Parts: sequence; structure tokens; C-alpha cells
Amino acid sequence: MTGSKSKALFERAKKTLPGGVNSPVRAFEPYPFFVECAHGSKLFDAEGKKYVDYCMAYGALLLGHANSEILEAVKAQLSKGTLYGAPTELEVKFAEQISKASPCMEMMRLVSTGTEATMHAVRAARGYTGRKKIIKFDGCFHGSHDNVLVKAGSGAATFGAPNSLGIPEETTRNTIVLPYNDVEALETMFKNEGGDIAAVIVEPVMGNVGLILPKKDYLSSLRKITAQNGAVLIFDEIITGFRLALGGAQEYFNIKPDMATLGKVLGGGFPLAAFGGKKEIMQNISPVGKVYQAGTFSGNPVSATAGFTILTYLNKNKNQIYPKLEKNASALKAALTDLSTQHKLPAQVYSIASLYQIFFTKNAVTNYACAKHSDAAMFTAYFRELLKEGVFIPPSQYETCFLSAAHTEDDLKFTINAFDKALSAAAKTRKTP
Ligand SMILES: Cc1ncc(COP(=O)(O)O)c(C=O)c1O
Repeated sequence: MTGSKSKALFERAKKTLPGGVNSPVRAFEPYPFFVECAHGSKLFDAEGKKYVDYCMAYGALLLGHANSEILEAVKAQLSKGTLYGAPTELEVKFAEQISKASPCMEMMRLVSTGTEATMHAVRAARGYTGRKKIIKFDGCFHGSHDNVLVKAGSGAATFGAPNSLGIPEETTRNTIVLPYNDVEALETMFKNEGGDIAAVIVEPVMGNVGLILPKKDYLSSLRKITAQNGAVLIFDEIITGFRLALGGAQEYFNIKPDMATLGKVLGGGFPLAAFGGKKEIMQNISPVGKVYQAGTFSGNPVSATAGFTILTYLNKNKNQIYPKLEKNASALKAALTDLSTQHKLPAQVYSIASLYQIFFTKNAVTNYACAKHSDAAMFTAYFRELLKEGVFIPPSQYETCFLSAAHTEDDLKFTINAFDKALSAAAKTRKTP
């Protein structure tokens, strides 16, 4: 379905890379297209075919590909060195900027990936409380480290291994999994295990099993229950950070967690993430305290330059960028909803800020169990037709689509036209006429 160059590259890739890719979410049947270059809202494959991109590196690129301000700033930094192994003023300025944007981040550590950020956030919460157990929610994905790779979303959901081999049962014995959007389940768990629970980690908006929004008051209930029980509330804002608003879900829903993790957008397209929160928690991190955390590439000047540049840009332009992104996502949602009705498809379409997704099911999707009822064959037909038409979305139902500030009115028109064809293809997979 994509070109012969990609097919040949995939055959070659499979010999040295498991499944031909460096992250499972990039693999799809019969083979993925291989990228030659990307600019603005577009990706170009090895054959030169152009795609309007709604994957945006799984949400990392809020300003689109190859943003000129970020590139210029990074080029200037490259000539001054790429890694020092000693602190820089830039890291301090950047941390101050993050702290100003994200209400709960009084202190933080910069790291290189979201996985590192959530791993250290959980460790910091356990170190601070002296408790062992953590609560996560079914289908929330917090990166691929042992403590949280239990009933996780994203690639783990797509490829059928929500509990990975290679993780000893003993390691995840202290990870409790509850359904999302269910306050009662949380209250019951705290009643039974409250004194042992160090932290509740949550994607404030679920973005790794499709897009699932929190019910009204759900996040404030999480805040209340964790506070009452002395457990640390961690918002994993790797997707929602700088996407829902400059201050992420914390600002959007006006809730202050004890800790947060940030990544993706934060690095402006370079590997960078952060975990942080209340001073009293973060002051336990080494070398001041006894919670160990370290990283050769942490706060490296290239990623920090890109991150500082994008945050400066967002600070200046937030009043134009966020309303435009929300308007564009709503327009795509409205088009998908109308076209699904026209094609007589059972569909639930959700959007918030610059995120949107469709589920092929007749019932509302409020947690992972509901998401699993959606029709996978319909989604695959929809994805493949979009790809044929030159629109790239994440290949799995268990991901979210991402808009960037680089998407234009013409891109949206082109996409809505492709939606029509893709939903028609999805309708053809219907089992009963
Ligand atoms: C909510 C969330 N947390 C953590 C991660 C892990 O981030 P990374 O892939 O940078 O390790 C992801 C990645 O998709 C994510 O969506």
C-alpha cells in the first residue's frame, strides 16, 4: 500500500531491528512507510509521497516539523558544544520557565524520556511517603518501565502484551490497577489499603487507548481522596503538558497535583522530559536526599535549548495558538461525527484542545474496558484508506491524533475529504448489511 522503497527498507530493517522498528507503535501491516523528511504539517516518505501528519511524533511536535525558530536556536547551540557533564545557566532558566508554566512544579529534574520521568516520579513518591504501593488506571500508559507496565495502553495494548514478559511478578505486586473514571473503586481501595499507598499516577486525559476524557469532578475527586490519605497525586502530563494549555491539565482543569511528569512537547522535538512537584517531595532527591536519580544526558544543552525556545514561543503566542488548535480539533471532530452519521457507522468521536480520536462503537467510551468494544477491523480500514489518501494518523485505535500549530485550513479541508473516503471504507467492513 505504500511504496516499494519502504517495502525493501522494511525487509532490510527486520534483519537488525525487532519487527523492523525502534518502537512497536511504528509497526503496522503490511509494512510502515519509511520517512525521508518532514516540514510543517507534512511528512514525506522514501518515495516522495506527501502525508498530512496527525501523529506528530506521537504528540511531541506542537509547532509542527522542523520549526525554524527551534532549528536556528539549536544550530547556534551545536557550535558551542552538545554535552558538558556540568551544569549550565540554561538549565536554571529553563527550570524556572517550566515552574512558572506548570503550577505544581516547584522543583524538578530534567531527564531524557517520559519513561525516565515517570520511573523517577514513582520512586520519589515512595521515598517521600515511605510506602510501597502505587495505583495506576487500566489502559493508562506511563512509559515502558517495570512498575507501570501493567495493563498499560499504547503499543502494549495494540500488540496484546499489556503485561510484558520479562517483568517478575514480584516487581508489579505493589502496582494496583483500577478502572479510570470510577471514584467508588478508588475510595474502596483507599479504605482497604490506604496506609500502604504511596502514590496515584494518572493520565489526566487518557491518550494511550484512544482519547478518553475525565468525567466531571473525577480529577477533583482524585485530588481530594489522595490528600485525605496522605498519598502523592502524580499527573502524568507527558501528553497533556503544553497541549491542553501552557500549564497542561493542571491549568485546564484547575487542579494542583503533588507531582507531575512532562515530556514530548517540552523537548521541542528533542529528547527531553521532566519530573517534579512540591519542594518537600523533591528535596529528597540525591544529592540532597536519599532518593537516587541520575542521567548522563539529563538537561543536555541541545534538548534544553529546543525546550527553552518552544516554551518561550508558547509563552508569547499562547493566546493565538491554543484557541486555534482547539478550534481545528473541534472542526475535525464535527466532520468525523457528521460523516459517520452519513455512512451509518456506530461512532464516538472525542476531542479536547489539540487532541481528537474516533472509536467505532455505539456506546460512550469512558474507560479502557469500553474502548475495547470498538470495532478494530473498521479502524484498520479507516486508517489504511486515510494513508492511501495522504493522511497519516497513528496506526492503532489505542492512540490519539495530534494537531499542530502548522496545520492549515487547506490541510483540514484535505483531511475532511479523506475522512469521507476512509469512513466509506470502514462502512464496507460491516459484518451485517
Ligand atoms: C502519558 C505518557 N507517559 C509516559 C510516556 C513515555 O514517554 P517516552 O516515550 O518519552 O518514554 C508516554 C509515551 O507515549 C505517554 O504517553
